[in-house]
Amino acid sequence: MHQQVRKAVLPVAGLGTRFLPVTKTVPKELLPVIDTPLVQYAIDEAQEAGIEEFIFVNGRGKNAIDDYFDHAFELETLLKERGKSDEWSLLQRLNPGPGKTAFVRQQEPKGLGHAVWCAKDYVGKEPFAVILPDDLVDADQGCLSQLIEVYNRTGGNVVAVENVPREHTNRYGVLDIGTTDGALVEVKGLVEKPDPSEAPSTLSIIGRYILLPEVFGHLDRHEKGAGGEIQLTDAMAKMIGSQLFHGLEFDGTRYDCGSKLGFLEANLAMALKRPELSDDVRKMMVTLLNE
Ligand code: UTP
Repeated sequence: MHQQVRKAVLPVAGLGTRFLPVTKTVPKELLPVIDTPLVQYAIDEAQEAGIEEFIFVNGRGKNAIDDYFDHAFELETLLKERGKSDEWSLLQRLNPGPGKTAFVRQQEPKGLGHAVWCAKDYVGKEPFAVILPDDLVDADQGCLSQLIEVYNRTGGNVVAVENVPREHTNRYGVLDIGTTDGALVEVKGLVEKPDPSEAPSTLSIIGRYILLPEVFGHLDRHEKGAGGEIQLTDAMAKMIGSQLFHGLEFDGTRYDCGSKLGFLEANLAMALKRPELSDDVRKMMVTLLNE
């Protein structure tokens, strides 16, 4: 029996430069896919996977994320007074509940590895999940739930991976693959953002991880990697050999909502799945394409 995964770290302190100017004042993680902020999709997926505690690593100017997970008394009172009970109920369901969210500050955006390290004392000595809300995964069984299922069987570190076009390997942490067992692959090595000509494979890590607390021992060194940032991939790579490490080719579709194209694709794809929108969206797309 492996120690249960109860906590998730959500690093949300990045600058979101690819989405300027909106990210000057609106955190990237609150950008909506249709009507729901990216961070809400992440929380829903984590709760489906049985996560109980949520540790947000936040940065300057992004307090709207904290507020999003608070009550909005004035709005809720008005909704009640005006008989908008569906909307009122919707707001009640969003919040993981009192005492279940923690907000840690990353004073400078020094990289994903540094953001995760900032949550070290809140995670303690237990396995934990990391969710990057700008990767939205649409799946019948949530991506994190798929990872936890594997973790409960194998223990060790488990990351969600996807086959990407070779010319894109320089955007991802890429796996050097050992033995494979269906969708499960043994990780022999990891390289952050390799040049396509040097990438050991095209299996790339997306924003879902189950990590053992030993990763903090490596992050403690604050070593800079690709792009001058403290990279999570580099710390994970140091665990290989002393801890089990697997990649899971998850079932589902992942949208890279940190990029404009991925974000637009997510909005269209999710709208096509909404019964109240799909017919009109389809018609609208045909009209636009024929103009
Ligand atoms: P990205 O690589 O997408 O960076 O971070 P970014 O700053 O958010 O966006 P761009 O590239 O400037 O457009 C991946 C995830 O890691 C978090 C981000 O908030 C995002 O969820 N992150 C990144 C941090 O929390 N801190 C950092 O120092 C870097």
